[in-house]
Amino acid sequence: MRERLEELLNEARAEIEETGLKDALVGVKSKYLGRKGLLQGFFKELGALAVDERKRAGEFINTVKQSLETEIDSRLSAIHAEEQAERLKTEKLDVTLPGRARSLGSIHPVTRTLYEVQDIFASLGFGIAEGPEVEIDYYNFEALNIPRDHPARDMQDTFYINEEVLLRTHTSPVQIRVMEEHPPPLRIIAPGTVYRRDSDVTHTPMFHQVEGFMVDTNVTFSNLKGVLTHFLHSLFGDSIEVRFRPSFFPFTEPSAEVDIRCVICKGKSSTCRVCKGSGWLEVLGAGMIHPEVFKSVKYDPEKVSGFAFGLGIERIAMLKYGIDDIRLFFENDIRFLSQY
Ligand code: FA5
Repeated sequence: MRERLEELLNEARAEIEETGLKDALVGVKSKYLGRKGLLQGFFKELGALAVDERKRAGEFINTVKQSLETEIDSRLSAIHAEEQAERLKTEKLDVTLPGRARSLGSIHPVTRTLYEVQDIFASLGFGIAEGPEVEIDYYNFEALNIPRDHPARDMQDTFYINEEVLLRTHTSPVQIRVMEEHPPPLRIIAPGTVYRRDSDVTHTPMFHQVEGFMVDTNVTFSNLKGVLTHFLHSLFGDSIEVRFRPSFFPFTEPSAEVDIRCVICKGKSSTCRVCKGSGWLEVLGAGMIHPEVFKSVKYDPEKVSGFAFGLGIERIAMLKYGIDDIRLFFENDIRFLSQY
């Protein structure tokens, strides 16, 4: 057996010496040392030997096994080192090449406008509140003094889920939710997504509003005018002209719509496409909170007063950035978005 083993060892050594490739060497290793390898056959023969002889033969097989393992492993590391040396010779790194620039994302113009609006009101001490987008009829309409058969429901074409549940058409329901939970005084803005069955160049079925309201004793229309004028001057610049126009909302009395001077023609063109020659652009709705609204949240309208307003963020962003089609905000065309 010893002779046959020595012969096997020599054969293996010749093969190790000849083999220059890593894969082939792995093959040689499994041929001799693997579970079904040639050396395994010798271990099987041990059973037929006398005890003494078995011990010696066993030790010899192990010696052969160990030297083969060591020789194969050192050959493998030699091949690895040769390959690496070869690679280093051919591969070159040009550290003077310019790097690959990564394009940076930017904040969506609607989000950017929303942040600006929030910052202005935060600087006036307004806190932020949120409410659900899937709302119940009571909060979206009823508690805001819009009963079921009231024609004002037609002002906002609604997505109903069932008779009682709908997608909120404005952020005004947050007024009710906040007032139900907290006693006055309150200074709150409520930004959020709202939904209406509406779609053209200035209307989308989903858009963003910011509701704002202030409730205390002796809050007056002058406070409303002061806060909103300051807000619009901060957003569009101190020189922008602001106009309050009488209007109607069921949840405010008196109500107003607020316009700014056309940012495009400054009121000087009778053919301006943006203001349609009127010289003014409507930016928000506002008014003094209706006594019926106070009653529905168990506030005493004799003791407290307040104002509220609501604006469309996309409308403000269109005016700020000179965009004439609201749908561009939601198409997610990188060429459009990367300008902001
Ligand atoms: C309201 O939604 C009132 N809740 C605002 C309010 C709050 C008044 C508190 C008084 C007191 P209005 O329906 O006008 O009002 O909508 C407010 C703004 O949302 C509009 O000026 C407009 O800028 C924007 N808007 C309305 N419909 C759409 C639409 N489909 N797509 C984009 N913006 C819209």
